[in-house]
Amino acid sequence: MISPSAVIIFIIVCLVVFFGLVVFVGAPYVPSQKKYVKRAFDYLGIDSADLLVDVGSGDGIILRIASNYGAKAIGYEINPVLVAISRLLSFRDPHVKVLMQNLWLAKLPDETTIVYAFAVQRDEKKLRTLLQREANRLGRPLKLLCFGSPFKHMQSVDTFEAYHLYIFQPLQPKNA
Ligand SMILES: C[S@@+](CC[C@H](N)C(=O)[O-])C[C@H]1O[C@@H](n2cnc3c(N)ncnc32)[C@H](O)[C@@H]1O
Repeated sequence: MISPSAVIIFIIVCLVVFFGLVVFVGAPYVPSQKKYVKRAFDYLGIDSADLLVDVGSGDGIILRIASNYGAKAIGYEINPVLVAISRLLSFRDPHVKVLMQNLWLAKLPDETTIVYAFAVQRDEKKLRTLLQREANRLGRPLKLLCFGSPFKHMQSVDTFEAYHLYIFQPLQPKNA
């Protein structure tokens, strides 16, 4: 018979592992605020023509807001607790899908129109590499909407409140 205290310790260890160790592979969990996201989506005109990908989707707030704008939304999330919560919160929403996957190894859906990232500056290079690789693979420009501090090594094409919009143009194979 497992004691209740052993179960509690197990749960605490799991939470520390899932929420704490993520700092070694990406940004820790901090949710975006709904009002800022909605203002940015209004500004950008997100609609049913979009497939938004959230790289590090947390509790899925961005996916649910994008779905309310009529867009399809796919999230990549490494923390199984957050994957479960976001799947629960978007249960029965056919526009929303959450994949438990390391975003740095992800191949974005071919229909992706815009990528959302709650970015930490430390991950700038990895994010730029991911987006450039995918724009090259798809052979068309990809938009990246970043919340947080601007990239140091790339100029945004637009800025709105704390959001910065980047466009990755596909490069010729010899330059890619
Ligand atoms: C700052 S939170 C942003 C959550 C959500 N996008 C939002 O704006 O509310 C970053 C999320 O990325 C997830 N994450 C960090 N590194 C990751 C990785 N390598 N692959 C997938 N998800 C990752 C974390 O677990 C966390 O939930």
